[in-house]
Amino acid sequence: MDLSTDYMGLALRNPLVASPSPLSKTVDGVRRLADAGVGAVVLYSLFEEQLRREAALDAELADAGAERFAEAQTYFPEVAEEEPGPRAYLSLLERAAAAVEIPVIGSLNGVTPGGWTDYALAMQDAGAAAIELNVYYLPGDPHTSGRDVEQRHLDVLGRVKDAVTVPVAVKLAPYFSSTGEMALRLDEAGADGLVLFNRFLQPDIDAEALAVVSAVELSRPAEARLPRTWIALLRGRVRAALAATTGVEAADDVASYLLAGADVVMTTSALLRHGPAHATVLLDGLSAWMERKGFASVDDVRGLLSVAPDADEDAHERTSYVGALRNANSSAYGPW
Ligand SMILES: Cc1cc2nc3c(=O)[nH]c(=O)nc-3n(C[C@H](O)[C@H](O)[C@H](O)COP(=O)(O)O)c2cc1C
Repeated sequence: MDLSTDYMGLALRNPLVASPSPLSKTVDGVRRLADAGVGAVVLYSLFEEQLRREAALDAELADAGAERFAEAQTYFPEVAEEEPGPRAYLSLLERAAAAVEIPVIGSLNGVTPGGWTDYALAMQDAGAAAIELNVYYLPGDPHTSGRDVEQRHLDVLGRVKDAVTVPVAVKLAPYFSSTGEMALRLDEAGADGLVLFNRFLQPDIDAEALAVVSAVELSRPAEARLPRTWIALLRGRVRAALAATTGVEAADDVASYLLAGADVVMTTSALLRHGPAHATVLLDGLSAWMERKGFASVDDVRGLLSVAPDADEDAHERTSYVGALRNANSSAYGPW
């Protein structure tokens, strides 16, 4: 079965990509993902806050001598304490890229177009086959306009694109007034890939403990519907490659994303739940499904159930919605 595929100009042996997670925090972890068969690995993210902190420490040390070191160290406390720093990240990237045959993609996570974006070049020099730019931004200030939020994405992308020659993908949220237009604008601004979508860490309230709690939860397959809908709509409308992320648990979920039009399908929660070897289960299942359905290659599958480029997208969405509600209202949800 021919599972080979192209992602942003990178030749992958198959379209299954390990998305950023703690599984890629060591060379051994990356090797285990590669041994399980994934087509590429995106390393866990290096955060803007870490890079700013390191830059501040360097500047402090250069300007004021080592006695100010402790003060500078407390300046950006959130991420840096528990995360390995930028130098360790580059070292991991370099060693991981040398250890496996598949492309290793670096991940930069930030929201302001500052000097930290130059770090993309350091990632490229360390062997990153591409850069994934995670713009994890929740505009908490209600005075922030939608256009400002969008411009922030474009500015960060512009800075990173200026810094590197390898492909750059943008991992974005689904929360725009017009997600499609945002995708088109990123595409026009030179994004080589769009990764749909970021999953936001949404804090919750524990009524018993009277406390706000936040924790990363693994995804469920139903969460794939939103990214899958957007992939089906964007297929054929953007030049950028489309990467699906969220809700892949079984081989069928991979197949559905391909049918919608994804160039590659990413997975994290399932690999954390079942271990890296689950990638082999997903790939074997995909091959078996393709054989059963009579598909000879991934290209034959991709986009078969996308929204035709000449379709009226608004009408398409509205028709599906009205039809689904009509069915639900006349079906067996009762008799309540
Ligand atoms: C424990 C954990 C750590 C993650 N770390 C990162 C990260 O560093 N950078 C990033 O872009 N996404 C990160 N993600 C998000 C995943 O890469 C992925 O996009 C998301 O979990 C949705 O895919 P899934 O449904 O296959 O899990 C993380 C997810 C989990 C569960």
